[in-house]
Amino acid sequence: MICKFCGKPASIYIRYANIALCREHFIQFFEKRVKRTIERFKMISPGEKIGVAVSGGKDSLTLLHVLYSLSKLMDLKLIGFTINLGIRKYSEECVKIALENFRKLKLEYRIINLRDYGFTIDDIVQYKISKRVCGICGTVKRYILNKVAREENVDRLATGHNLDDFLQVILQGYIHGDLKYLSKYFPVTPSRNKLISRIKPLVFTPEEEIKKYTVIKGINYCMKKCPYSFQASSHTLKKAILLIEENHPGIRFSMFNTYIKKIYPLINAKYSEELELSECSRCGEPSGKNICLFCRVKTRIKSIKSGTIIN
Ligand code: AMP
Ligand code: FES
Ligand code: ZN
Ligand code: ZN
Repeated sequence: MICKFCGKPASIYIRYANIALCREHFIQFFEKRVKRTIERFKMISPGEKIGVAVSGGKDSLTLLHVLYSLSKLMDLKLIGFTINLGIRKYSEECVKIALENFRKLKLEYRIINLRDYGFTIDDIVQYKISKRVCGICGTVKRYILNKVAREENVDRLATGHNLDDFLQVILQGYIHGDLKYLSKYFPVTPSRNKLISRIKPLVFTPEEEIKKYTVIKGINYCMKKCPYSFQASSHTLKKAILLIEENHPGIRFSMFNTYIKKIYPLINAKYSEELELSECSRCGEPSGKNICLFCRVKTRIKSIKSGTIIN
């Protein structure tokens, strides 16, 4: 196979578009689509400071490298954020790789240790705080990333969610009828009160192309899987989405566009008024409840560790 644009040997065949591309033209194709996504959803204005949430995995490191490539053209300032969640050897490895990438690109960064807040994700499992480890971990990440983003005066917080991740969340929301959650689920969410605007620039990028991008660009990423992720039902849903894609190439883009154009506007209009957000009375961070989940988890673990309550 030869590249559609230059005739050199192709390194990837893109089935839904029926085109083959060489390394150089694949990188152009890939980065251009991220740029168009940013423009389509008005994710970034020129001159803004973007906090990039980097887990050390392939998606967020790809995001970091693409934003770095686009930073001159789009006039962006970047800062990387990585949380050491304290998950056995997994976190150490991920943080090390994130750090290597920040240094390689000579970017400003912050590594945040969850342990400094008094607990780790391993503690949540050890002290049986919840069966939904991934759910609590998600809350912890959102809490810390938002707090650090505010401290560093960033305009937007970018995460590495890709097209398959996005569709999986929509499907999950549909299965559980969680329309309230979906009414906030969009590629960009605006800042309000103490909540920093969040953006998902890879939301129109299929997962397998992200893998190819890391290989072609020689991006080193953490291949280890989170030891708690086996609990997640997301894997089955993602497999199902890929199976549909195999039989109907390009259907993921249609699913995405239908949600954006037809479904999201309806649910968003229905629930927009109900989304009142106040502040946690302990830490002052945004919360729907009097005391936020982060503070409740932190207090519970502290009490168990000090022997005030027996688990
Ligand atoms: P996940 O919730 O693990 O699917 O991750 C979704 C996105 O959250 C990633 O693409 C990253 O942008 C961000 N993220 C996840 N884990 C971390 C972490 N430990 N530190 C910083 N950002 C993270
Ligand atoms: Fe949070 Fe696995 S990364 S539970
Ligand atoms: Zn080419
Ligand atoms: Zn709180």
